[in-house]
Amino acid sequence: MRSVLECKQLCDDSKASKPNDGRGRYEAGQRRCNTCGVFFDTANMHCQCCGTKLRTKPRSKAGKERLATINSRPAATAAEAAAPNPAETRPAPAPKPKRGAKTPGSRPQKSRDGNATATTTTTTTAAKSAAAARGPNLGGMDWGLANRMASIIRPEDNRALMLAVDHGYFLGPTERLEEPDRVIAPLLEYCDSLMLTRGVQRTSVPPATRTPMVLRVSGGSSIIGEDLSREDVTVSVQDAIRLNASALALSIFVGSKYEYQTIANLGRLVGQAQEYGIPVLAVTAVGKELGKDARYLSLACRIAAEQGAHIVKTYYCEDFEKVTRSCPVPIIVAGGKKIPERDALELTYNSIRGGAVGVDMGRNIWQSDHPVAMIRAVRSIVHGTNDADKAYRMYLDLAKSG
Ligand code: 5RP
Repeated sequence: MRSVLECKQLCDDSKASKPNDGRGRYEAGQRRCNTCGVFFDTANMHCQCCGTKLRTKPRSKAGKERLATINSRPAATAAEAAAPNPAETRPAPAPKPKRGAKTPGSRPQKSRDGNATATTTTTTTAAKSAAAARGPNLGGMDWGLANRMASIIRPEDNRALMLAVDHGYFLGPTERLEEPDRVIAPLLEYCDSLMLTRGVQRTSVPPATRTPMVLRVSGGSSIIGEDLSREDVTVSVQDAIRLNASALALSIFVGSKYEYQTIANLGRLVGQAQEYGIPVLAVTAVGKELGKDARYLSLACRIAAEQGAHIVKTYYCEDFEKVTRSCPVPIIVAGGKKIPERDALELTYNSIRGGAVGVDMGRNIWQSDHPVAMIRAVRSIVHGTNDADKAYRMYLDLAKSG
């Protein structure tokens, strides 16, 4: 039961501004919290500040009728109107990374293909130029790839909160993740995307969810086996499409016995997934013995990006900016082993300040005694303006009242 229904003023910096293209707020997909009295650009059902269920439609009859008329337009028109346009989104709220966080696709625009440039340079008529100027900014990516990237790294603030529940693929029934359906259900509305295996997706996630799935497609070893780094691609792109995956995740083990195999897996997977507009998230796994310092992690992240990974997941470390600075694609930080909540929130804050676009956190959320309070506190850093202290106070408040 939700008992916290008062504005905690955490919404101040994450409230959405009025669309400047003539559309109404509800029409543009914004949702209103009646308790806080603000609109958000969010797909969540509840306000991240106070927990109130968000309104998706105007209250007045006239407003409802207007929205219904707009929504009854042909699908293509509605999709065009709703297409994310990073060029029009407001700047990311604090805390700011020391160096600018990378907009998804900003680098591929320069190097991967020349489609966007070709479109504008070969356009001859004024009408065509005007239409091109109105079109969405895809950052040089194909629409499908850009759309999937935008579902993982939210264009409105260039941040991402991924919930990791894929641990069973080599750890088996990990502590407090023994029954994935029960763990996932209350957390689903607070994450931007869920990282998991196809087995858990098919058995433990309601298919009606709107949360994007980041599907782990590598595996083949176990914690009791000989070598954790001996992984292969275990899921086909066709099955990933059947599962409506928004991205594919695969580990590389740089410096390990199976380094070659896992890096070559990544290169091949990027080639196959890109054919269908699916981004690939490379995990710089460290196995049992590899280090986690900036020298090693910047090497591993850069190698992943050079193979074409669209997002890299790695660990936080001292001198983390060295890692983000030298990696030309967005970096997401893994939570790692369970640590005290205050420390995990500090790690989240420092990761973003160091240039990560967000966190992909598992154990520090669902191994907490208060997983919902914890994910909401993490969210208040990733998508809000809380520092670790404020987020920890929020965690304690929510834990007490929940
Ligand atoms: C396991 C993974 C996990 O998804 C990743 O480590 C994130 O989970 P946690 O926050 O528990 O570390 O990739 O290989």
